[in-house]
Amino acid sequence: MQDPQANVARVVIPRERIAARVAELAKEISGHLDGRPVTLAALMTGSVIFVADLIRHLPVMMKIRLVGMSSYPGTATQSEGVEVLGKMPEDLSGQTVLIVDDILDTGRTLGKAAELVRSAGADTVLTCVLLSKNTTRRAADGLAKADYVGFHIADEFVVGYGLDHGDYYRNLPDIAVLKETPASYDAL
Ligand code: IMP
Ligand code: MG
Repeated sequence: MQDPQANVARVVIPRERIAARVAELAKEISGHLDGRPVTLAALMTGSVIFVADLIRHLPVMMKIRLVGMSSYPGTATQSEGVEVLGKMPEDLSGQTVLIVDDILDTGRTLGKAAELVRSAGADTVLTCVLLSKNTTRRAADGLAKADYVGFHIADEFVVGYGLDHGDYYRNLPDIAVLKETPASYDAL
């Protein structure tokens, strides 16, 4: 299976709807920022495409920091605790920080990121996700909800537009469900 599209069972959110919603979200965010500068903390790697699209609709003074976080090791399709890869940005004293991620599931990733940003001195911490899963698995130690949400989706494993399975499928332009989620891609 060399074409990632060949493993798509169903498109959940097509690219046109994503694009329209990302523009709306950016409007909401810039309205609330009301001219204040912002530091964007983009959680890698899942938010890479979302963040790239979002920022082009945000006409504000902005710094960007990339923060490596991992919660779905390998080909797991369930969160298995959060790992921070690398370190959090420098001193964020007095700054308004917008944390951006691809999806809110148990809430542990965003919860951990918010904690790190706050302890780096941020004044205001805002959170934004493209997707939020309707799940009963929100963890007590996680973030219950994000400030800005693109779409609420069913509790199913999705890929595309930055979201991966086993680090593949991030380049699919739509959000989709896979036919198969193999335990390994070693044979590729
Ligand atoms: P949480 O810590 O359980 O909220 O999980 C959030 C992280 O898990 C996100 O940063 C994603 O990278 C990953 N994740 C959660 N659900 C999915 C999914 O359906 N597909 C791909 N990655 C997911
Ligand atoms: Mg992620």
